[in-house]
Amino acid sequence: MAAPVVLVSNRGPLSFREDGDELIATRGGGGLVSGLAPLVAGTDTVWIAAALSDADRQAASRGVIEADGIRARTLAIDSTVMTQAYDGVCNSMLWFLYHGLHDLSRRPVIDKGFRVAWEAYRRYNRAFADVVADESPDGAVVLVQDYHLALLGPLLREKRPDLATVHFSHTPFAPPHLMRVLPHDLATELLVGMAGHNACGFHSDRWARDFRNSCEEIAGITPTTFVAPLAPDADDIRGVASSDRCQAETEAIDTDLGDRRLIVRVDRIELSKNLLRGFRAYDTMLQDRPDLRETVVFRALGYPSREGLPEYLAYRAEIESLAAVINHRWATPGWNPIELDLVDDFPKSVAHLRRYDVLMVNPIRDGLNLVAMEGPLVNERDGAVVLSREAGVHDALNGAVHSVNPFDIEDQALALAAALDMDAATRASRAAELRRRAEARNPSDWLSDQLAASQEG
Ligand code: G6P
Repeated sequence: MAAPVVLVSNRGPLSFREDGDELIATRGGGGLVSGLAPLVAGTDTVWIAAALSDADRQAASRGVIEADGIRARTLAIDSTVMTQAYDGVCNSMLWFLYHGLHDLSRRPVIDKGFRVAWEAYRRYNRAFADVVADESPDGAVVLVQDYHLALLGPLLREKRPDLATVHFSHTPFAPPHLMRVLPHDLATELLVGMAGHNACGFHSDRWARDFRNSCEEIAGITPTTFVAPLAPDADDIRGVASSDRCQAETEAIDTDLGDRRLIVRVDRIELSKNLLRGFRAYDTMLQDRPDLRETVVFRALGYPSREGLPEYLAYRAEIESLAAVINHRWATPGWNPIELDLVDDFPKSVAHLRRYDVLMVNPIRDGLNLVAMEGPLVNERDGAVVLSREAGVHDALNGAVHSVNPFDIEDQALALAAALDMDAATRASRAAELRRRAEARNPSDWLSDQLAASQEG
């Protein structure tokens, strides 16, 4: 019989709210949850995650809760520890290192405060280890997701040697020269922590290689790694696309746009997503191709994230002001070249994926990027995809997309224009190829790869 499975992540599958004495559960947000929740719904898998709100904390005292087909166990962690670990270590240090986002002439500042935050990160990992050790059935496979929980493997091995553990990173990883930014003792602790799982998985061989190189150069260890790109759930996203809400949004887009063509992007408001250079590329395209002015609209749908960090607030402000500058430069009566929509509305985003002529996905560095596959699965206009070579998903879509260097404005401007210029036959054959590639794997393949990897190491 297959071993029981326990999933562990910072952000959980359910979020709770209070209604009188009752706790009401709804499906939580974020890419990780939307990718994995359909996989484990209706199974015995227990999903252990941190409490992110007061109502989540209340849920924590009730043990495993079943809702929406999911068995979730919420974990209440002291809120100071949580903030120091999540913002101080995960978001402003590890996320920045793995995506190469630090401006090294100024940041990071590794001071006493950072050491305090690191201690909180240890406590956060130990708190998870205690609960996972208590909740996991005999011989279970524990699937640990992401950088928040890098230290779990060795802690669990000590408490529960019967468990098999896998650590999966949904991000890229830092090559040795960036990993050396962390103090040597902490870099070693992190690498040894990750390598202390039976195996470490990544979406792309590039990220696995960076991890192995860092392990070998800095910690002198050779970890067991595997590569298993996640894939979208085609039925799930097509179900959203055919919903009444999405249909109404699609009709609204058609009314707004008329004959104009549509460039779309859908991202978290996130520094690594490279929205600013995307707008600059569009600006350059409008400069160089007067014939395209007024014939196209760029709609950017972004949803707010990590607003506890000043860098994210400043980034959002810069996005808004750059869009305003470009609109001021080119707008004519009845035409705004860029339309920003910074509210989280999934059906509306999917409606835009149905309707785009060009989908722009140009991250500086990205673990995978599911939008680049979700788009082709629901698009109805043989739309083209402009895709950064630095996204993990580029491995699977290379040859069917307009590949770009995300730092090169000219390259991206030319790619946008080339995507708009494609003749109907080329568009149709490329779109068919993109759909074929996006359907080649599904989320259960990814899960099976993790279960297989758990038997290694
Ligand atoms: C994105 C990344 C995941 C990460 C998640 C955390 O979805 O792809 O690797 O776990 O962000 O986001 P959060 O909003 O929970 O910080």
